[in-house]
Amino acid sequence: MEDKKNQKQIILTGDRPTGKLHLGHYVGSLQRRVELQNSGKFDEINILVADDQALTDNYDNPQKIRDNIIEVALDYLSVGIDPDKSNICIQSALPALHALTFYYMNLVTTARLSRNPTVKAEMQQKGFDSEGLPAGFFTYPVSQTADITAFNATCVPTGEDQEPMLEQAREIVRRFNSIYGDTLTEPSILLPDNSVQRRLPGIDGKAKMSKSLGNGIYLSDDSKTLKTKVMSMYTDPEHLAVSDPGHVEGNAVFTYLDAFCKPEHFAEYLPEYQNLDEMKEHYRRGGLGDVKCKKFLLKVLEEMLSPIRAERARWEQNIGDVYDILKQGTEHARQETDETLAKVRKAMKIDYFDDGSIVTEWDQWINGKH
Ligand code: TRP
Repeated sequence: MEDKKNQKQIILTGDRPTGKLHLGHYVGSLQRRVELQNSGKFDEINILVADDQALTDNYDNPQKIRDNIIEVALDYLSVGIDPDKSNICIQSALPALHALTFYYMNLVTTARLSRNPTVKAEMQQKGFDSEGLPAGFFTYPVSQTADITAFNATCVPTGEDQEPMLEQAREIVRRFNSIYGDTLTEPSILLPDNSVQRRLPGIDGKAKMSKSLGNGIYLSDDSKTLKTKVMSMYTDPEHLAVSDPGHVEGNAVFTYLDAFCKPEHFAEYLPEYQNLDEMKEHYRRGGLGDVKCKKFLLKVLEEMLSPIRAERARWEQNIGDVYDILKQGTEHARQETDETLAKVRKAMKIDYFDDGSIVTEWDQWINGKH
């Protein structure tokens, strides 16, 4: 394998196309991807639309996955993922990933797979018990290892919930390399840096913004929807009258302000405060009403989301271009993942038809016996 210092820095990350992306995805991963893309520090960036993985628990609803392919691509493009710098590709059109998954299955035990805490939590959420658990869903961490290794990824920027997947991937890589010789690259995870990025609560103040809880603000929400959602946000149930002292901890409006507001927003929209600390201080003391805070947040979010909305509208007028971007990205990824599969087949001694050497070997073996 290549020397660590000369090793190409390759990113792979991805999403399941099960729904439109929301603000939680934006602070947690999309914004960071755009930064990494524009940092110039990476030789290659791949973003995988993981439709096969989405099918492992939506196999009975293929139309939903199909509908969300373009939707997720629009989300990527509208936040600033640049197809000239980042390669967007579709998992199901990359047959090498399927083959790799099958080979990696040998390198992991069912006991090890059943200890994966993310899969366990998802099983509970979906109401799968061990009797009714589809094998495809149970083994999706192996398929995710195929995704990561097929691109020779060195770096996987993703959320904390994906840590068990990365651990699993590293274990499979080590096992593969120790049995078949140094072939695969061990990936590392790049986690979000702060707690708001890790877990943006829903507008109801509940743990995490999620589609199933219906508490999300979507990148594709129009101004009116955004306004309705912001004005209905959970604040501090003890802050009844404007004059009452209020809590900013656990108050969704302030958590969002922590995530999205910058000092310059005050000068523009709320000049009576210099910064968020002063505003929080007033809220704590009493005398600052929720409606005022929400109106400010709405302006901050509107400023951030309106260019994203405009970009989305532009791409929506050019869906043919979006299709071409996905198609070209997938073709590029296909070459790359096929190359990894060829290396893996060689290492596993199943590359019979790449050359005729199996015949010469056989000859030698037969002659050696005589
Ligand atoms: N499991 C990831 C999620 O649910 C999606 C995903 C699929 C992924 N393949 C990946 C993430 C490879 C990072 C790398 O969000």
